[in-house]
Amino acid sequence: MKNKSLISINDYSKEEILKIVELSSFFEQKKNQNQDYLKGKVIATLFFEPSTRTRLSFETAINRLGGRVIGFSDARNTSATKGESLKDTIMMVSRYADLIVMRHPLEGSAQYASEVSGVPVINAGDGANQHPSQTLLDLYSIAKTQGRLDDLNICMVGDLKYGRTIHSLLMALSHFNPKFDFVAPDELRMPSEYKDFCDKKGISYNECIEMDKCIPDADILYMTRVQQERFNDPMEYEKVKNVYTLNAAMLEDAKENMKVLHPLPRVGEISTDVDASDKAYYFQQAENGVYARMAIIASALGVV
Ligand code: CP
Repeated sequence: MKNKSLISINDYSKEEILKIVELSSFFEQKKNQNQDYLKGKVIATLFFEPSTRTRLSFETAINRLGGRVIGFSDARNTSATKGESLKDTIMMVSRYADLIVMRHPLEGSAQYASEVSGVPVINAGDGANQHPSQTLLDLYSIAKTQGRLDDLNICMVGDLKYGRTIHSLLMALSHFNPKFDFVAPDELRMPSEYKDFCDKKGISYNECIEMDKCIPDADILYMTRVQQERFNDPMEYEKVKNVYTLNAAMLEDAKENMKVLHPLPRVGEISTDVDASDKAYYFQQAENGVYARMAIIASALGVV
């Protein structure tokens, strides 16, 4: 994985995915130690789109590994506002840093950045396309809570059309013989390209509108936010924004081992009364992001 960009989860083989899960656990065990795996390394975090968890967990991971961070969290403070192109920005930053972590609203921007960069690029989310580092922390969270990745029932709920975390997770889980329930309103159904992908791989899936019916069979209930920023028409967003709200009572018939995951932020799709449930795992999932990102960075720079 040394010097390899991570643009799509498909850039990693099953073996490489399992290696990141294993390394995440390794770094979690060492979380209270000062480490110098990245001593002398500079990593750029370029966030052209808002973020709380992804940026801060990447930066925490870099600091915990002894590296240094440069970058920005708001592109309005950069020369992009003067018209500087993404190509020029990346060609220049890759002369400053050993690795670039980038979030950008345009689908395909991370692939483009990796093609013009002299150093590896980690995609921290490109539009509605992919969010592979989120997927690796999701897989680590699933492995930790279920004791395995194989043969699980995964119920994905909410914005399955624009949800980049959903698209990346579906592809990664295809290595592990999953069964999917896709729960979404008509407007936000799973795009046909991902259903075709499941068909080609012989992966079983069921599409439904009612979340309650799918909860009893789920090992993982993966909730997502309806993303206002992906809609061109505000009226379309208004129609679907509150379509699913999970509350504690709805978890009564859930399996013992079932966990609720959510990439966060949530805006109403998980009621706060779920937070006290032993099924709620989304804040631990966000913490797991630090360990998974330590594993991703250390692997990309070849220091483990
Ligand atoms: N899960 C996630 O991508 O969160 P942020 O948008 O806060 O980074």
